[in-house]
Amino acid sequence: MKSPLVVAVVFGTRPDAVKMAPVVAALSRDPRFRCVTIATAQHREMLDEVLDLFGITAEYDLGVMTEGQTLTDVTTRVLERIGTVLADVRPDVVLVHGDTTTSTAAALAAYYQKIPVGHVEAGLRTSTIYEPFPEEVNRRLTGVLATYHFAPTPLARHNLLREGKDATSIIVTGNTVIDAFMQIHASVSDADAVAVSTPRMIFAEAHRRENLGEPLEAICRAFKRVVGERPDVSLVWPVHPNPPIVEAVRRNLEGVPRVLLMQPLGYRRLVATIAHATLVATDSGGLQEEAPTLGKPVLVLRRVTERPEGLQAGTLRLAGIREEEIVGHLSELLDDKAAYQKMAKAANPYGDGKASQRIAQGLQALLRGAPLPDEFIPAP
Ligand code: UD1
Repeated sequence: MKSPLVVAVVFGTRPDAVKMAPVVAALSRDPRFRCVTIATAQHREMLDEVLDLFGITAEYDLGVMTEGQTLTDVTTRVLERIGTVLADVRPDVVLVHGDTTTSTAAALAAYYQKIPVGHVEAGLRTSTIYEPFPEEVNRRLTGVLATYHFAPTPLARHNLLREGKDATSIIVTGNTVIDAFMQIHASVSDADAVAVSTPRMIFAEAHRRENLGEPLEAICRAFKRVVGERPDVSLVWPVHPNPPIVEAVRRNLEGVPRVLLMQPLGYRRLVATIAHATLVATDSGGLQEEAPTLGKPVLVLRRVTERPEGLQAGTLRLAGIREEEIVGHLSELLDDKAAYQKMAKAANPYGDGKASQRIAQGLQALLRGAPLPDEFIPAP
């Protein structure tokens, strides 16, 4: 019997912890692996809540977060601290996720020690390096540093092939966020959701760096108008703790009737609240994948998205970052039943709940010559 494959799984923010949790679970229950968990803790409270929920205790916790941290702070701290851990553990492969600064810095540290990197959620792209900022460049750099690419969709694979990646290094798995979301959704009850007093509710969330300033102001004004004009609609917004976000959202929306500004929700509460929402309006990446699982239309508060599969499938709509445009999209979905139903009934192209199993089998295939997993094929 071969010795177990030692896989270091790195995460640091709330979304990459949610998306890596099912991978950690799949590797941990399979005797062919030894899974070493490394939390950079680029986030603190938001990360800890997710780790608690999924029962993960990070073997290494690098504690890098500081309030109001700059991108340089996060990059340099992760690079320095994770280098020491990798030199100690010497894993066979390091798995990083998506597009956070944690992932790129960890991939670079692994590369410096010639440890191969596997990139989970590989191959998402927009056409501009500044949107999303700095995530677009983070994921492109991680793609350059990685040896193995776990692409969530066929389009992501296509993007990687276009950049010259070797076809045998790419496996289409579906997105692990669907595994996590389905697992938690199966265990939530109505009581877990944020209670509202109206029959309809918009679930709102915006936190991206490129939306700081006028775009975020416009998003707030649009919400205020749309909710103000409809007494049967409320809006729930769990506000990201980044200080400039908190300031702008409070200044615009605190005290507005039927607008509930909240602390970030635990993931269980988030899933339960989305299940009760009429629609979701967000600049988040993960919510674009999660909400359509429950048939909730998503308005994307950005100018571009790296998730065009959802636009094509009809689960997402690009609502932009200008007040009038956002009001127009929200109004149409709230007032036009046929437009709403069309989005609500579209099939989610992002996964089937088996992505983490495919990643585990993919690692055995790529590193140990085991058979390749059956790839994820989205519904036509
Ligand atoms: C990061 C990711 C982004 C992801 C987002 C999800 C990068 C460059 N960006 O952005 O892709 O969508 O996480 O949230 O990696 N804070 C706390 N407590 C927490 C978390 C954050 O107080 O638990 C505050 C701190 O003041 C921190 C600030 O939020 O300095 C910003 O956190 P940071 O990780 O730098 O950026 P995000 O906008 O969260």
